[in-house]
Amino acid sequence: MREICVVGVGYVGIVTAACFADLGNRVVGLDISEEKIKNLKKGIMPIYEPGLKDMVDRNMSAGRLVFTTSYEEGLKEADFVFICVGTPEGVDGEADLQYVRESAIAVAETMHKPLTIINKSTVPVGTGDWVSDIMRQHQPTPIKFSVVSCPEFLREGSALADFLNPDRTVLGSLDREAANRVAELHLPLRAPIVVTDLRTAEMIKYASNAFLATRISFINEIANICEALGADVKEVAQGMGYDKRIGHYFLDAGVGYGGSCFPKDVKALSYMAQVHGRHPQLLHAVMEINNYQRRQAVLKLRDLLGNLSGKTVGLLGLAFKPNTDDLRDAPSISIARMLQSEGASVRAYDPVAMDHAQNVMPGVAFAKDAYGLAEGCDALVVVTDWNEFKQLDMSRVKAAMKQPVVVDGRNIYNPERMQQMGFTYQAFGRGINAHPRAAQAWPSAESAPATDGKVPEGADD
Ligand code: UDX
Repeated sequence: MREICVVGVGYVGIVTAACFADLGNRVVGLDISEEKIKNLKKGIMPIYEPGLKDMVDRNMSAGRLVFTTSYEEGLKEADFVFICVGTPEGVDGEADLQYVRESAIAVAETMHKPLTIINKSTVPVGTGDWVSDIMRQHQPTPIKFSVVSCPEFLREGSALADFLNPDRTVLGSLDREAANRVAELHLPLRAPIVVTDLRTAEMIKYASNAFLATRISFINEIANICEALGADVKEVAQGMGYDKRIGHYFLDAGVGYGGSCFPKDVKALSYMAQVHGRHPQLLHAVMEINNYQRRQAVLKLRDLLGNLSGKTVGLLGLAFKPNTDDLRDAPSISIARMLQSEGASVRAYDPVAMDHAQNVMPGVAFAKDAYGLAEGCDALVVVTDWNEFKQLDMSRVKAAMKQPVVVDGRNIYNPERMQQMGFTYQAFGRGINAHPRAAQAWPSAESAPATDGKVPEGADD
């Protein structure tokens, strides 16, 4: 049993606090938000995450997990302090470190015994060194501390499982003993532990997220080409994925990535590279393709419906991915805005994200379920691949719609079946509904028109 304080009980913090308590440690969750702490004490979670409430309740009842707004109380017994505060996107994509700075100062001013400070927030490379400097400047009397970087790799919706069964734990520090102490905390997780220096650990996090985002933009680029050439990206991805060097993960084409990490981290990495005189061309392309995927949903609707002014479009799903109510940088928000700017009425349904959506999606009308959403719509757009959308009674959906038009932004339906049912159906990168020009098969490579790398006239991409 170790004494741990977790500073910041947002997404990463609450999961970290709950899981370390569940592993038998004594954990104090600390946050400056009175409201968050008051709610947690009453058993109200700050986020929606499957299994979290049970785990928090269980560990609170066992006395291993408590919550406070006081640094004195949080650091009373602590040997380890996890910094899990938010690092929102600042100007130009640079991460905003205000909260990291404030919590480092508060820890420095309050600590009364040696501490191991572990940073879990995604922070620019070099932040660990910066935190050490700030702490040294703000300690009333020098007390030994070490800073360790331990980036989180939690996916929303499976954060508890990701924490408890990680693919790896990354620890970076200039103080090897401190890194070893933190490694011991993670031993029950039985995952490989990579011990390295601070900056390398910080970079591993950015590089991992940028690589995953690159895979998504890569398959989206392939999807766009598939669409032009009459191939099916789902089968292309499947065929590629059996190659062990490639694998099947993160090859789902559609409206692209959103959420609190990928968009922000790719931008921040690109910003860091540019500040240091590098030209991160690939990262720029990854972001550009991702933005284009959102626009494509609207372009497809325009193709199918003509002028969007006065049309009613229903969004199936709002959260940036299933099993979460998170709308941060969700494709649904950009798509709704684009549709509204073209004069369309936007309606939406999401199994859990509608409460949040009321505040961030002005002018959008919400339906109580997918069938209610379909009522009177000129088109539906699948934006989030919630399981409940995969098994809808499509004849009922069709009967409710004004026009049976579906743009499937997550490729969850079978194109042939949808067309047989009488839907006008467009997926992303699936040959069956390829652009008409795909039908003009090129008999041989020699006879293919030379484009000099330019997009042929009239092409969407
Ligand atoms: C991600 C990382 O996976 C996690 O390790 C990191 O620490 C935080 O960021 P998360 O943002 O929860 O986690 O979502 P993730 O499941 O990775 O999906 C991100 C986005 O990519 C979603 O919008 C999802 O719909 C999209 N996506 C994912 C695709 O468009 N295609 C894919 O093949 C996979």
